[in-house]
Amino acid sequence: MDIILSGLKTEDAQVLATKLNDLLANFQVYYQNLRGLHWNIKGKNFFELHTKFEELYTDSQEKVDLIAERILTLQGTPLHTFQDYINVSKIPVGKDISKDTEAVELIVKSLSELLKIEREILEISGNADDEGTNSMMSDFISEQEKTLWMLNAWLG
Ligand SMILES: [Fe+2]
Repeated sequence: MDIILSGLKTEDAQVLATKLNDLLANFQVYYQNLRGLHWNIKGKNFFELHTKFEELYTDSQEKVDLIAERILTLQGTPLHTFQDYINVSKIPVGKDISKDTEAVELIVKSLSELLKIEREILEISGNADDEGTNSMMSDFISEQEKTLWMLNAWLG
């Protein structure tokens, strides 16, 4: 069988599932970074940032599930161990960060990395006529671009 999902080629689905796993791994590290920032943030901006980081990790948790289930839909297997995530992810692991600007800078750096992968997947899925993955990526991209704008505004 070389055609799945009503016309999507198996080889395209495999390439996309692999790229989506790359995105998933990066997202999981991003998610865990956000939890650390939520817990460890200190200073005068505590209340504002503690809440903001929770909002961001809750959103990431939903996106992680959407990505994993898209991989399954494409007949792939989503990565699901910390070991795999660390091996695949390019996002730096944030440890013991309590300073507000350092925390926000880590998020900006991480979102930029996620956007890079998402744009790549957007292009591949567009060429493969994989509308499901394509529309997911365009939703993620527009949301994260807006978040990046706000975080950069906060940084001044
Ligand atoms: Fe909490």
